[in-house]
Amino acid sequence: MSETKPTVLVTRRMPAAVLDQLAQSCAVDLHPGTDDLTHDAMCARVRGKDGLICMFNDRIDAAVIAAADSLRVISTVAVGFDNIDVEAATARGIVVTNTPDILTGATAELTWALILSVTRRVGEADRVVRRGGWTGWTFDFMLGSELRGKQLGIVGAGRIGRAVAAIAPAFGMRPVFAAKPGAGRDAGSGDGDTVLSLDELLLMSDVVSLHLPLTDSTRHLINRRTLARMKRSACLINTARGGIVDEEALSWALEERLIAGAGLDVFEGEPQVHAGLQQRENVCLTPHIGSATRETRAAMAGLAVRNVVDVLSGRPALTPVTR
Ligand code: DGY
Repeated sequence: MSETKPTVLVTRRMPAAVLDQLAQSCAVDLHPGTDDLTHDAMCARVRGKDGLICMFNDRIDAAVIAAADSLRVISTVAVGFDNIDVEAATARGIVVTNTPDILTGATAELTWALILSVTRRVGEADRVVRRGGWTGWTFDFMLGSELRGKQLGIVGAGRIGRAVAAIAPAFGMRPVFAAKPGAGRDAGSGDGDTVLSLDELLLMSDVVSLHLPLTDSTRHLINRRTLARMKRSACLINTARGGIVDEEALSWALEERLIAGAGLDVFEGEPQVHAGLQQRENVCLTPHIGSATRETRAAMAGLAVRNVVDVLSGRPALTPVTR
């Protein structure tokens, strides 16, 4: 790196040790609040910066990229990068990086927490006890459904989908994968996997879990038509991106009892949650905490910093985004 330190805008607080590491080779402009930088503030603060470390909920669109007159790297502390206009960045020669792999385990664990919460009614049971609604043990109170012998339909056979599938045998579940849209039945899977068309998977699975990036082709993949294909006893789990599910349609499907429940960590208009979902006892809601473990968040921040430092030092990024 040159004598003058390059400057890096960091849009959220990160662990002090990681920021100290960044400060060794860069001048850091940290937005210290817990609030989001507004779009205007982002455009103003990114001007003159060499690097940007952002989060999945910062909108890094063409306007931000146009304002970033000296930016060389955008490093998102997330695996998903649907918030970044990668095309606009690439056209300007800006490298975009993300933090894959290290959050796979944490997100898979939360997925199973939601599966168990919905099928065994954990959230609902907790609420009953807290409001004093538990008046005594009875034989048929709060009956849920068991996982053993059931089918787990994984939509998205990437790292997280596969990690979720790997845990399925411990619960006696049979994992199956959805073929990539437009690809043959054996596409997008590993040896020995059962691969079904999305429609077959929806028709036959007891739990359907989404592990796809949000793109033009996955937006509202789960809609009235696809929800109507699911078993009435099935539940839907989403720890990927809210926009993959049409929340209006999901609320309708739950109201009509077309499916039995849902576990959602991500939402279309975060932090807003569709009122029809908020009201339902058979929906478990968590506030986008898939990767929220101390270990994983520290590792994500560390990797994001490493990517910025590498690019600003003229080295290739460790985990560049590829489209
Ligand atoms: C991601 O990494 O994409 C998550 O949604 C945020 O941790």
